[in-house]
Amino acid sequence: MFKNVYNKRGVEPKNIESKFDIDELFFSTTDLKGIILSGNDVFVRVSKFSKEEIIGKPHNIIRHPNMPRAVFKALWDTIKQGKPFVGYVVNMAKDGSYYWVLASIYPMFDKEGNIKKYLSIRIKPSSDIFKIIPNLYQDILTYEQREGMDAALEYMLNKIKELGYENYEEFSKKAFLEEMRSRELQLDEKLTVCGNIEKSQDKRNEEIADRLCSLQTIFLRLNRYYTSIYNKVSIFLDMNKELSEKSRFVYQLAEEIRLLSLNASIESYKIKKEGVSFSTLSQEMRKNAEYSEKQILKLTELINETNKDIEETSFNILSCKMQIDMIVYFLKEMLQKLIYESISEKEEQEVNENISDLFELLKFYSEKLSKNVYDSKSKLRNIYYNIKDLNVLINRLDFIHINGLIESAHSGNDGGSFTIIFSQMLKLVEAAKNQIINLETHITTASEENLHIDITAGIIDERLIKLEKKYEDLFS
Ligand SMILES: Cc1cc2nc3c(=O)[nH]c(=O)nc-3n(C[C@H](O)[C@H](O)[C@H](O)COP(=O)(O)O)c2cc1C
Repeated sequence: MFKNVYNKRGVEPKNIESKFDIDELFFSTTDLKGIILSGNDVFVRVSKFSKEEIIGKPHNIIRHPNMPRAVFKALWDTIKQGKPFVGYVVNMAKDGSYYWVLASIYPMFDKEGNIKKYLSIRIKPSSDIFKIIPNLYQDILTYEQREGMDAALEYMLNKIKELGYENYEEFSKKAFLEEMRSRELQLDEKLTVCGNIEKSQDKRNEEIADRLCSLQTIFLRLNRYYTSIYNKVSIFLDMNKELSEKSRFVYQLAEEIRLLSLNASIESYKIKKEGVSFSTLSQEMRKNAEYSEKQILKLTELINETNKDIEETSFNILSCKMQIDMIVYFLKEMLQKLIYESISEKEEQEVNENISDLFELLKFYSEKLSKNVYDSKSKLRNIYYNIKDLNVLINRLDFIHINGLIESAHSGNDGGSFTIIFSQMLKLVEAAKNQIINLETHITTASEENLHIDITAGIIDERLIKLEKKYEDLFS
């Protein structure tokens, strides 16, 4: 599987997996250049380095030679812009063994809004999407070695398009969702370790453990709210696709209606006898069709904007879920450790800093989420009213075409071309009506789901404020 290449450390990659369990999550933080500042125990264990060996080193210490450079370029291009990045990475442990992860990398900001560090959380990939990744990366790597990194990046984006995704972002969001879902299905509820803490031999340990335990209880409670909105993500993402398809279809219909009404106008000039009533009708028809088209264009734009919001909402929900899972896991990891080992003051401080970082990230993404759903609320309402307006216009078109058909019937042979035009119009207007009803149903569902998330996000916000206070009390 692995070519006979060596990484920068001169270690040969081995076709042996450095294993970790599906329930294990790990994180690391880096400075702006990717120098590792901290990480949890799973991160250290899986890398097979000691903590001393890995902290302070560039993150490429675990770089696997099979990773295309193009992926890292995409990673850095994204995070340097202050945006999060999600992607599959194969890493190489100290002894040359490999391990795949789905990594999400988040920039963290100071008060002035500058990036101060990066935090990456990883899970074990297990979804169907992952199955194609090792071969895909191998393919990209081969191309990269021949054509260079920039060409390989383009090659990668084309491959992603071939798989049916519009761009890397869409692919990574889908992978993020599928990996979280697949992982969730394989987890069995394991008991928290708080109950075992009295076994600890050390008084100081017990105090630290008490604090971590109360934090864990709070985060576990909070997690239920995140889980309830996380369960909505797939509905939201599916709805997104449907909404774009529907709005595209309605837009095409509008164009056809406009063309047809233009034809009707032209025809009316050709007719002399009945021309007056036909030309009035066709003028009306054209005016309405043009106005409908404008309305539909506005609606399409609104839907596109809302779709972007919905996509962002979904990503933020997944991020919050992964972050809170990471916090809960990290607390469990520390609590387990405290049963058997006493930790130094320096280590305790490190733990506190890590919790602070993870908590800060969770707050940041929860706030983003609240803002998202708030913005979507008014946009969805706007779409709803637009659909109502459009309905009125379409009904008017319906009325005009009925009159048109009556007029054509009265006008004998000369009305023939009009009969065809008005009949075609009837079909289009009927189709438009159906699509708009469909769109209305989707928007209503979207609004309901959005409302649910909005209410839950509100509760989460309140809890986070309380938690922040409690956190300060616990760690001051
Ligand atoms: C927060 C963070 C986490 C990273 N995690 C990894 C990782 O797990 N494995 C990896 O190879 N590179 C990781 N990188 C990217 C590395 O910094 C580096 O770009 C990559 O290993 C390629 O190294 P190279 O340019 O020397 O080939 C991470 C970067 C950041 C900012």
